[in-house]
Amino acid sequence: MSDDFDAAAIVAIPLVERAEVHAELGSTNDRAKELARDPAVAAERLPRLIVADRQTAGRGRGGKQWHASDGALTFSLLIDPAAHGLSLDRQGLLAIATAVAVIEAIRTTTGLSAGLKWPNDVLLGGPDGVAKKVAGILIEAPRSDRWVVGVGINVNNSFEEATAEVAARATSLRQATGNKTVRQAVLEAFLGDFTTRLANPSAVIEAARKACVLTGHRVTLADGDRTTIGTCRGIADDGALLIRTREEVLECRAGTVTLQPRTT
Ligand code: BTN
Repeated sequence: MSDDFDAAAIVAIPLVERAEVHAELGSTNDRAKELARDPAVAAERLPRLIVADRQTAGRGRGGKQWHASDGALTFSLLIDPAAHGLSLDRQGLLAIATAVAVIEAIRTTTGLSAGLKWPNDVLLGGPDGVAKKVAGILIEAPRSDRWVVGVGINVNNSFEEATAEVAARATSLRQATGNKTVRQAVLEAFLGDFTTRLANPSAVIEAARKACVLTGHRVTLADGDRTTIGTCRGIADDGALLIRTREEVLECRAGTVTLQPRTT
């Protein structure tokens, strides 16, 4: 089956008002941000979906590069947060909702059970038990009334040309299943599930708790120059990560988590 994208089928999904499919783009998030600044687009109905068959300058969280060789699924949704009842204090929930929709899309298209590494990394366990990243999410707010939800899913790509560091930490659906998965199917499954999540992001917490790979583990959370070490106690109702330190249970709303290796 072809692995080309079908723009007509994408626009038929009720959530998507407009769609652009590019053979190649630097970054779908950058394209979405460019559209957010365009007065002609300001009058249009959103969300607009931007898909790139190939992305050459993908960006990740914390200013990092997002490695995506041919076969990855890379897209961004330009949304009007108010149209979905979203305010800045719910951006964390949106990130979690997006990750849960990615996990669900992976389950329906491949049968694989992916895990959530708070707030929005999606991991797959390898045969050696080491979980590797299969998808990442970058949410940006170029304007208070225009947000960009960027998603990168390693579908059919390999990491032969990636740095050793990326290759050691990343996997793809193809690596995990041994088969090709049609990217359009993953995209459609994501958009279908995301429509429901967007309608009620608070309801995503139960699914996020089930998928959370950190619960019960020793973790380190780095947020700027602040480091918190403790045991993850799960996810709070508003999407915060709960970390029990020696003194208290902290509700953490930002930062990057690292799993501590087991000492026994
Ligand atoms: C991360 O894991 O740090 C986030 C990765 C987000 C990558 C996606 S790919 C589509 C969209 N365009 C980008 O430049 N980044 C996001």
